[in-house]
Amino acid sequence: MKKIAVFTSGGDSPGMNAAIRAVVRAGIHSGLEVYGILRGYEGMIDGNFVPMDTRSVSNIIQLGGTILYTARSERFRTPEGRKLAFENLKAHDIDGIVAIGGDGTFTGADIFTKEYPLKIVGLPGTIDNDLYGTDFTIGYDTAINTAMWAIDNIKDTANAHDRLFFVEVMGRDSGFIALRSAIAVGAEAVLIPETHTDIDQLYDKVRTQSDLKKRACIVVVAEGDEFGGAYKISEEIRKRDPKLDIRVSVLGHMQRGGRPSCMDRFLASRLGLEAVKALNDGVSGVMIGQSHNNITYTPFEKSIKLNNTLNPVLTEMVEILS
Ligand code: F6P
Repeated sequence: MKKIAVFTSGGDSPGMNAAIRAVVRAGIHSGLEVYGILRGYEGMIDGNFVPMDTRSVSNIIQLGGTILYTARSERFRTPEGRKLAFENLKAHDIDGIVAIGGDGTFTGADIFTKEYPLKIVGLPGTIDNDLYGTDFTIGYDTAINTAMWAIDNIKDTANAHDRLFFVEVMGRDSGFIALRSAIAVGAEAVLIPETHTDIDQLYDKVRTQSDLKKRACIVVVAEGDEFGGAYKISEEIRKRDPKLDIRVSVLGHMQRGGRPSCMDRFLASRLGLEAVKALNDGVSGVMIGQSHNNITYTPFEKSIKLNNTLNPVLTEMVEILS
């Protein structure tokens, strides 16, 4: 192996820059030439390859976002798009690739490695924590801390006004952000896509809180909850009692940015180093993760399809501790 390339794809996550830095520096340390591909698969198709050196990744470990930019590529879903991408990789003599992203990124990488003679390893970069084969994804820790900080602030004003707040956090298909942040802020309830949302039960719960003379009530809602987002759920509760003083707050993309936490910088650095080691050892077609402090290799297909399973004890925790 002589030349490798690294790219970020899909939704960005805090710690992606730390991962790029680790791949570039570990690659150069092991005698490889390293390229960055701009805007993920889009840049691969358009031939946007930039040579990286040690200095090109200076002073980025503490930054959110991604210096290589990112995109969701419709063209890469087509055989023609992937052919162009492969031709560009060959033109640059790229032998190995590190793909940093989430399920969409690995779905693309899985098809690509099966179609063409390529060596690709993946690093789990998503705030959603919804990939099987790693305890945590790069960016999740920062995102739950951001959500926790924001909900703490909301709780102050909720307490001051004796209000019921529905706070929507990210998570299109998974409730990991919702669940951990709900536990950390002492929320009264959490609604996630993985469990059935019963509006009557939720209404009873909310009523009980005010009967208990609790001043504020916080319900954390994952954006992908099967009943709907925070606005929809708040309307249903309001229909049952129009006198309830309800407010809704949608945290949105603020959860995706910001300085990565120590946990995320460490995870990204460790996995970046391991990605280069894996490519040098001829490994391909796997996501590199960390589980119980050990490095794990999970085939792309498995990392996407099995998802990460939510521990039911955590949903019980919200119930028991609120
Ligand atoms: O996959 C990460 C994520 O932030 C999800 O939690 C969210 O549903 C989605 O991306 C939002 O995507 P976009 O930035 O394209 O709106």
